[in-house]
Amino acid sequence: MHLQASKSIPGGVPSSWASSRPTPVWVSHGNGAYVWDVDDNRYIDFHAGYGANVVGHANPSVVAAVQKRVTQGTHFAQPTPDSIVVAEELSRRFGLPQWRFCNSGTEATMDAVHLMRVITGRDLIIKVEGSYNGHHDSVAISIFRSAEELGPADKPWRTPGAGIPQAIADCVRIVPFNDIDALSRLLDEHEGQIAGMIFEPILMGAGIIVPQPGYLEAVKKLVHQHGALLAFDEVKTGLVIHQGGATAMYGVVPDIICLAKALGGGLPCGAIGGTNEVMGAITDGRYNQVGTFNGNPLTMAATRAVLTEVLTDDAYARANDVGAYILKNAISTLQKHRQGVHGYQFGFKVSIVFSDEPARNYRDFLEVSTGAMHLNYLMQFNGGVFLAPWGKSESLTLSVAHTCEHGDVFLRNLSQLGKVIEQMSDRTSEVFAAGSFN
Ligand SMILES: Cc1ncc(COP(=O)(O)O)c(C=O)c1O
Repeated sequence: MHLQASKSIPGGVPSSWASSRPTPVWVSHGNGAYVWDVDDNRYIDFHAGYGANVVGHANPSVVAAVQKRVTQGTHFAQPTPDSIVVAEELSRRFGLPQWRFCNSGTEATMDAVHLMRVITGRDLIIKVEGSYNGHHDSVAISIFRSAEELGPADKPWRTPGAGIPQAIADCVRIVPFNDIDALSRLLDEHEGQIAGMIFEPILMGAGIIVPQPGYLEAVKKLVHQHGALLAFDEVKTGLVIHQGGATAMYGVVPDIICLAKALGGGLPCGAIGGTNEVMGAITDGRYNQVGTFNGNPLTMAATRAVLTEVLTDDAYARANDVGAYILKNAISTLQKHRQGVHGYQFGFKVSIVFSDEPARNYRDFLEVSTGAMHLNYLMQFNGGVFLAPWGKSESLTLSVAHTCEHGDVFLRNLSQLGKVIEQMSDRTSEVFAAGSFN
């Protein structure tokens, strides 16, 4: 199938991130915690479509909502009543009063950047080194690069992604995560020029890197002192780590919140929330937040079901139990095999990193063995567990359908992996490093 697909689809995949070594995985269907490939092999799914499917596959509430809506018309480019319920529920969870919709995380962070520039009348934005905030030009800067390509640690370059002019990257300034002094220096150097800062309150594309105590509060204070705005990219964290994302978990409410992924329960829904001041720029027409499919009726029906029926307080309590069980046992399993390991668990996310030292920022994370994580991906896959192919960067995502028994299969495979890698003295070999691309 991969060979056939490769003739008409570049790389044989609809998105480059659906690629994996040795071959992309073609999925036939999913149900609850499971997915089946086209050869009818069943896997426990901890990939969850890059963390989007915390409701589980074919969740009955989402299926019912979509089935009902699909018979009533799926596109008008006019508002439907479900969107009010969704906006009100997001306000309740995240503490920002106004919400607009879009179709992806990339669109949400693009709107955030535009809004920050429109409101302040300034061009420069700040982003965090190594943090992925989507694939539009203003944020696809200094991501997934080696330390050499990122420049000196104390004066990081702004390294544009492929196809992005340096002139656009030059409207961006880069700071390391968890470094409040670097941010302070940058804001002083560019007094009156910074529109705002956008970043993930927990860095998710690098295992999981948590903010140091007080970091988020200090960022908010500093950014505001310099007349700039603060946007949290909660595309990956929002609704997954906690009912109200990192915003509610840490109690620091920014000016703008970007959501997507888990929000639509498997349908493409993004959202942007803001203070009355920020969203006033949309209301009075200074910024046209637009999109043919924004607030699409099918997406809104699914999202309403996700928020009001599926991702309940009970669902988070269960996810925390299952997640804590997996993390605790994964750490003891790898330690038994004399492997360095640490990890985190928040709600539906579990991150297990093959290193004793928790990273503070993206450069620390580059030191973590890519080979071990890729080998884990392969051994888990052969043992009936589907992880996200970008093994080093990604975490496990649970769904409401996952139980500790599903975790046990993952843990058995992890023990096998431990046995194998504890005997590997040379981890620099070409074979072991073959996973390096992810
Ligand atoms: C933190 C973060 N922001 C933004 C995005 C972009 O979202 P999308 O792929 O829906 O455009 C992603 C996607 O992985 C993400 O992890």
